[in-house]
Amino acid sequence: MPAIVLVGAQWGDEGKGKATDLLGSSVDYVVKFNGGNNAGHTIVVDGEKYALHLLPSGILSPGCTPVIGNGVVIDLAVLFQEIDALQARGIDTSRLVVSANAHLIPPYNRVLDKVTERFLGSRRLGTTGRGIGPTYADKMSRVGIRVQDLYDESILRQKVEAALEVKNQVLAKIYNRRAIEVQEVMDELLKHAERLRPMVVDTGLLLSTALDEDKTVLFEAGQATLLDVDHGTYPFVTSSSAVAAGACTGSGVPPTRIDRVIAILKAYSTRVGEGPFPTELHDDMGEFLRKTGAEYGTTTGRPRRCGWVDTVVGRYATRINGVTDFVVTKLDVLTGLEQVPVCVAYDVAGVRHDEMPMSQSDFHHATPIYEYLPGWWEDISACRTFEDLPVNARRYVERVEELIGARVSTIGVGPGRDETIERHSLLGLD
Ligand code: IMP
Repeated sequence: MPAIVLVGAQWGDEGKGKATDLLGSSVDYVVKFNGGNNAGHTIVVDGEKYALHLLPSGILSPGCTPVIGNGVVIDLAVLFQEIDALQARGIDTSRLVVSANAHLIPPYNRVLDKVTERFLGSRRLGTTGRGIGPTYADKMSRVGIRVQDLYDESILRQKVEAALEVKNQVLAKIYNRRAIEVQEVMDELLKHAERLRPMVVDTGLLLSTALDEDKTVLFEAGQATLLDVDHGTYPFVTSSSAVAAGACTGSGVPPTRIDRVIAILKAYSTRVGEGPFPTELHDDMGEFLRKTGAEYGTTTGRPRRCGWVDTVVGRYATRINGVTDFVVTKLDVLTGLEQVPVCVAYDVAGVRHDEMPMSQSDFHHATPIYEYLPGWWEDISACRTFEDLPVNARRYVERVEELIGARVSTIGVGPGRDETIERHSLLGLD
């Protein structure tokens, strides 16, 4: 059975939660391999809406083991809040496992994330303020705190002391904030240690063994291709590896074991936070997409920036991730438009670019070149096969498919689990 990676093709919020949930019942393990509680998945099951930030969405599928991999950064208070909230609604969370090598978000990194953004003013990145960036920075600087450190108190204390020695200087001397006490941090981290202990495993070993035993493993990326720290619109990115390759470093499963890569592409584009976005709309059409698509952040509640679909971005996602299948989500949001613009290339200072420009400055100055496809008026939410769709909706999907260079296997026509058209099995069975 396959190892499948699921990634966002754009700037996040493409509806990955729904795709994971669709696969959920056929999948034995769902692995979150990057990011932390900056993510936000909204999943609708049997009319009930669930907003998850840190937990892999597989937590909602009975029989599936949710895994938090080593590439994730964990805010323990948030983890247990989410677990408690799900348990209160009768969801079984007992299968959850957490990598001993995952890093923890200590309270000082939440503070630093927020004050750094404030300090940057107009140059801010628009982070979620959850401490994600500073925690990954600590990981790379080798001063991070890992899950396993919770179980050796003297090591934990040494690490917290070493980190605070520097962080408190920064907080007090640069940002004029109060210094944070070692004990305060120890208490917050240790508060959850015993509850976490039975969940802590060597996730790399667990997953490799599962694949040896022919289990199906789904690796679910947080954020998306253009928010990836290496391949995204740097510096307006998150601080982790959100592309398919990140599934390997973030879980301990080698690249030779990955069988399929599914990318989620919303039928239009959205972005939260700052950074370039060539097809962004600042007019009534942008407002139409935001309202019709309910484009408000799951994590921060911020209104999302909205624009037309960008197939330069889609093509890039295909290349960077090695996409085998696309899921196009929210096609229903485009119903009722006279014409649907599709960005096919960019104009940068009079030069046509069919691929993502190499430099950040060029991308900032890219203006979209559109192809205008005829729209459709029919309600498509009840369509369950590709042939059920109005001809212009089919043309739209087929043209996008041609431009992004990989097959569109599934199409979302509404928020519910069943409001879906499956053209090809996402598990690669046809
Ligand atoms: P951070 O991940 O909080 O450091 O934020 C960095 C950038 O990534 C900001 O522009 C955020 O808005 C964006 N971002 C982080 N997580 C998500 C997500 O799940 N969906 C969309 N954007 C996100």
